[in-house]
Amino acid sequence: MNKEGTVLAARNLRKVFSTAGGELVVLDGVELEAQRGEMIAVVGPSGSGKTTLLYLLAGLDRPTAGEVEFDGRRLSELSPEELAAHRNTRIGFVWQLSNLLPDFTAQENVEMPLLVRGESRERAADEARRWLAEVGLAERAHHLAGELSGGEQQRAALARALVSGPAVLFADEPTGNLDEANRERILSLLIALHRTHGLTSFLATHNLESAGRCDRVLRLDHGRLIPTRGSQPGES
Ligand SMILES: Nc1ncnc2c1ncn2[C@@H]1O[C@H](COP(=O)(O)OP(=O)(O)OP(=O)(O)O)[C@@H](O)[C@H]1O
Ligand SMILES: [Mg+2]
Repeated sequence: MNKEGTVLAARNLRKVFSTAGGELVVLDGVELEAQRGEMIAVVGPSGSGKTTLLYLLAGLDRPTAGEVEFDGRRLSELSPEELAAHRNTRIGFVWQLSNLLPDFTAQENVEMPLLVRGESRERAADEARRWLAEVGLAERAHHLAGELSGGEQQRAALARALVSGPAVLFADEPTGNLDEANRERILSLLIALHRTHGLTSFLATHNLESAGRCDRVLRLDHGRLIPTRGSQPGES
């Protein structure tokens, strides 16, 4: 593994949800250091907190206690505007269900993150075209997202996650709803994009075979993140 420094760290991360049944402790002291260029699988049974953890690491939700540091900066110290910019430019997120806007074309969906941050229409269109081609979807660019197949939607979702040039990619069970052939295609694409673009990536998955293709596999167990194989955080 190429160790070029820590890009993302979690320090004693805790997340507690208040529910009708009382307090639910989902994360209870998560420690993590992700090195630049690593691809890390997060596994654990349904309800163990994979999605919750990815949201905190991505800055999409805030921890109850503890810290997430991105390039040495604490996310808790960012203003709401800085945090929004962080989400728009530094991280890409792919959901289990693609989360595309179904009544917009694949092209329009991929352009959106760039238009949101004020890029010109021409630049957004060019970049979206380039990314749709890279994920093998050039011929579907002008189809409505809602009319794409499950595998095609995840390709478009990958293009949308990467179009703004993020440093870290989060994929939350991106192949959970696909058949085996499509799962394999999307996973291979994810790994290829990860390598080509020098990303640091997190893959939450139930699938141990998919997890096994990552550099490290971390398991959520009673709110903590336990290494299951590969290097310990901080080693290389
Ligand atoms: N906003 C919320 N309010 C209350 N409880 C929540 C909230 N979000 C998640 N939870 C609970 O936290 C626990 C962890 O949820 P999470 O979605 O992170 O699990 P997961 O490991 O991603 O599961 P799955 O594999 O099914 O996607 C679950 O018990 C869930 O019900
Ligand atoms: Mg989940």
